[in-house]
Amino acid sequence: MTINNVMVIGAGQMGAGIAQVFARAGVDVKLNDLKQEALDKGLAGIEKRLARAVEKGRMTSEEQDTAFHHLSGTTNIEDAADCDLVIEAVVENMEVKTKVFQQLDGITPEHTILASNTSSLPITEIAAATKRPSQVIGMHFMNPVPVMKLVEIIRAIQTSAETFEAIKDMTNRLEKTPVEVNDFPGFVSNRILMPMINEAIYTVYEGVASPEDVDTVMKLGMNHPMGPLALADFIGLDTCLYIMEVLYDGFGDSKYRPCPLLRKYVKAGWLGKKSGRGFYTYE
Ligand code: CAA
Ligand code: NAD
Repeated sequence: MTINNVMVIGAGQMGAGIAQVFARAGVDVKLNDLKQEALDKGLAGIEKRLARAVEKGRMTSEEQDTAFHHLSGTTNIEDAADCDLVIEAVVENMEVKTKVFQQLDGITPEHTILASNTSSLPITEIAAATKRPSQVIGMHFMNPVPVMKLVEIIRAIQTSAETFEAIKDMTNRLEKTPVEVNDFPGFVSNRILMPMINEAIYTVYEGVASPEDVDTVMKLGMNHPMGPLALADFIGLDTCLYIMEVLYDGFGDSKYRPCPLLRKYVKAGWLGKKSGRGFYTYE
């Protein structure tokens, strides 16, 4: 199957990054958000990052123009009517995601693949909410999308081999590395990463060390590019909490219990970089 037209639903940090890599690869892509303000912010971020790439000599201005030519924005989900692939990147909440998939199921042509960028939620359950479960799949990009090379491809129990192959080919076209993963809570990436972040939050909660010192241990002691608390702020503390809850519910094991300090920060609206405050403060 050939994928020529793509829509990305949700123009937040992930959706905007995903739209950018499609446009850069020469694929027509529409970025969608419910809110005009969020869409404008997402498009402005792409513009800024592409301009910086030209400044740094990583891209020519002709390539920048070509990328813009492939990119457009819309607040109307009905514009997915001519798309071959739609990637959903809205909030990490099953109810919101299944509603979006049901809407897309009614709007898009029969051949269209519906993918989710979920960090942890069961693709099998999202697929079951549609009338085309064999064409539903997880396409999990990493943050920041233009920089990170990995895409976890998650097969629901219903996903067909054709759907999997089409998404694997598309991932290679984006110059990313696909890894095939079965549908289990948190997949591979967040089953391993998020308990480490949660444990780092427990070390602060239990007064073992300050956030700065926890991050220094992991950066200088383990060569991680970012400490786990700076990374949690970067991902979004709301997203981290949703993922821990999926692991806790999905495995029913107390080792995945979200740290009470994480819950408290999310309740306070301290969501990390995107809200200006998390374990660190941001301008
Ligand atoms: N968006 C796009 N590009 C970005 C970016 C962003 N938010 N942040 C940094 N970059 C780019 C910069 O433009 C820069 O490229 P150029 O030098 O060519 O301009 C490059 O990345 C390196 O940036 P910096 O020199 O400013 O900073 P750095 O060397 O510290 O790298 C980083 C920044 C790439 C983010 C690095 O700190 C890193 O790899 N951090 C860990 C990221 C990580 O673990 N991601 C996975 C998160 S988990 C996930 O995504 C799954 C999930 O479901 C939650
Ligand atoms: P975000 O909060 O930055 O953006 C979400 C966007 O979706 C917002 O702009 C919001 O207005 C929009 N939205 C909400 N409901 C919508 C709807 N029905 N239709 C259209 N737009 C809608 O979130 P994010 O960090 O970009 O995360 C998005 C998804 O990607 C989540 O499922 C998350 O788990 C996953 N993810 C996040 C990361 C990360 O590091 N943040 C990494 C990989 C995957």
